[in-house]
Amino acid sequence: MLDAYLVAGYQNPRINVQSILLRQELIRDLVGDRFVPLMSEELRFAVDLNEVLRLRAEQLGVRMGTFIDPAKAAGVRRVDEAIAGRDGAFMERWSSALADVESGPLSVLEFACGSANDYRAFAESGLARLLDYRGVDLTPKNIANARRRFPGISFEIGDITALPYPDGAYDCVIASDIFEHLPAAAIERALDEAARLARHTVVLTFFNMADVSEHVIRHKGAYNWNVLSRDEVVERLGRRFPSVQATSVARFLADGFDYPRTYNRSSWTVVARRDEGV
Ligand SMILES: C[S@@+](CC[C@H](N)C(=O)[O-])C[C@H]1O[C@@H](n2cnc3c(N)ncnc32)[C@H](O)[C@@H]1O
Repeated sequence: MLDAYLVAGYQNPRINVQSILLRQELIRDLVGDRFVPLMSEELRFAVDLNEVLRLRAEQLGVRMGTFIDPAKAAGVRRVDEAIAGRDGAFMERWSSALADVESGPLSVLEFACGSANDYRAFAESGLARLLDYRGVDLTPKNIANARRRFPGISFEIGDITALPYPDGAYDCVIASDIFEHLPAAAIERALDEAARLARHTVVLTFFNMADVSEHVIRHKGAYNWNVLSRDEVVERLGRRFPSVQATSVARFLADGFDYPRTYNRSSWTVVARRDEGV
């Protein structure tokens, strides 16, 4: 189940805008602005396919989301059929574009990598070849899934609030959709770990962030479903990084791509940099 979790519908890393922004940040760290036109094209493509999914879900009366319930997950898969065979187009475009890149490897540590959810698109797009990558996750089953999919790649069981790696051990630390699930003290510890371990860049994606002055910590069953404060995250990372940029995905798509219907208005991407380029 974990292997198929968070990789369907809008979460498909090939067309998920935050997954794309994350990959594009790594590509920028490798080669600077060389591929900016392709990056814009990819985002436009993703917006178009997101809209195809939205319309199809509406037509079928399917509620889109990330579901454990088999019937609900099957509904999302039915919607996904609307983009079958099309969603990989930019995996191929990037594979060609990156084929002659000789820079790197960029060392990347991914916090809470799940079952190699984003790494699947790193591999398909030809980006993985340019990375010296390690993924860590607390859940042994996720790590077993990731290792099975990508033997030879370093996937380790680990707790992102206390990792056994030295300061500045990685060029970049990346994380998607994890901080909302952590208890309050763990949020600060994990942000500090990211800042400690990253020599150059931290890229974090959030699914539930807002312009509020403090985190709203919410317990939901065995885990948390917090609303994270943009200001608090930026302030914490700003203690260690001279530049921290927080982007609301909804505003980014509305302003840059004339697309006002992003599936999650609370999603943000935060990039902290120690310097310009690696
Ligand atoms: C919502 S999932 C996100 C997975 C993946 N990053 C994605 O975006 O598809 C959260 C993940 O965080 C992991 N996790 C939770 N607490 C953690 C911790 N303290 N250290 C490392 N991983 C943790 C869980 O096992 C789970 O795989």
